[in-house]
Amino acid sequence: MITSTGYQSGFANEYATEAVAGALPVGRNSPQRVAHGLYAEQISGTAFTAPRRENRRSWLYRIRPAAMHGTFARFDQPHLHNEFDNGPVTPDQLRWSPLPIPEAPTDFIEGLFTMAGNGSPAAQHGVGIHLYAANRDMQDRFFYDADAEMLFVPQQGRLRIETELGVLEVEPQEVAIVPRGIRFRVALPDGASRGYVCENFGALLRLPDLGPIGSNGLANARDFLAPNAAFEEREGDFELIAKFQGHLWRAAIGHSPLDVVAWHGNYAPVKYDLRRFNAIGSISFDHPDPSIFTVLTSPSDTPGTANLDFVVFPPRWLVAQDTFRPPWFHRNVASEFMGLVHGVYDAKAEGFAPGGASLHNCMSGHGPDAATFEKASAADLAKPDVIKDTMAFMFETRAVIRPTAQAMDAAHRQRNYQDCWAGLKKQFKAP
Ligand SMILES: [Fe+2]
Repeated sequence: MITSTGYQSGFANEYATEAVAGALPVGRNSPQRVAHGLYAEQISGTAFTAPRRENRRSWLYRIRPAAMHGTFARFDQPHLHNEFDNGPVTPDQLRWSPLPIPEAPTDFIEGLFTMAGNGSPAAQHGVGIHLYAANRDMQDRFFYDADAEMLFVPQQGRLRIETELGVLEVEPQEVAIVPRGIRFRVALPDGASRGYVCENFGALLRLPDLGPIGSNGLANARDFLAPNAAFEEREGDFELIAKFQGHLWRAAIGHSPLDVVAWHGNYAPVKYDLRRFNAIGSISFDHPDPSIFTVLTSPSDTPGTANLDFVVFPPRWLVAQDTFRPPWFHRNVASEFMGLVHGVYDAKAEGFAPGGASLHNCMSGHGPDAATFEKASAADLAKPDVIKDTMAFMFETRAVIRPTAQAMDAAHRQRNYQDCWAGLKKQFKAP
């Protein structure tokens, strides 16, 4: 286990950190000899020639270079894949109960279960949406995802993500991003653990522009935390698992790859506490569109149309007058995969449990269930409502989110989800 050495604040800052004094070169990236006998190595998360404001790379000073490992052979984990383009996709609204925690010993990699996605790693756009349910630490096993940056949304149990660049300790209601290619190991300090992972095959997640909101609000950059350098010097018979073009591969490695003693750059894992999200909403009437809750966005090549938006519905006050206060009925050209980390979601009276998920695809109608509609239509708007116990989120994409066959066939899919709208009464009375 690598002990956390704390964090540096900011999103995609030019971070600089060393776990051993003097390890970080001054004034150059790759001196002829790095202090303490370390190797210098760059990891680039964008094209070398990407515009400066988008260019992301870090320099790592490590005990051995990343090139040192055995040859790769296929690693069998049939529940994790990126095959989203097989056959017709139903326009039905879909919902799932939480993924059961396994009884057999299962680590984070073994516990990943692909729910849905679009695009592909080969095309470098789209997303892969997965659940995980696991109960033990990755043991002498390290992982990297060459296909995507990974957005972790734990729902039950903490994640201790020990990465090449340092340790992220992440609890439910926090999220973490591990960039494409960064090697890591996941430990589960609370044992049985569950949550969501979104692989982003497209442009790197960034903070959204704020427009007329101004220079503060939503997710503030200083609340993102990158780890300080922390490393282990271990030799033995270990495994390096790579996710490459939608499948897993395994190679033997004779040392821990978590051996980066110092690093600098703006390509780094980060964590963020969703409870620090500064929610902004109406103080007169009506709702802004839910894009007002965007935490992070992966832009596409069409301005304003995201490959992926990560959106959160945190605790908040509802004060709008002459307004139906829950989320309204709607249809959307984008597609919406929702999860619930904590509490209750204000558009559903029951059925959407923490750890569960729903999928409302392009132009599939959705909105509050019958019980919520009745209650909100009769609510006393002279009083503000406060939603205290909640933390729902959404992975929203421009492309249709295609559920996998295993998600459609899963025992935890709620096959009667449409019934939640069946009780909506005809209210119309002709004058
Ligand atoms: Fe929606």
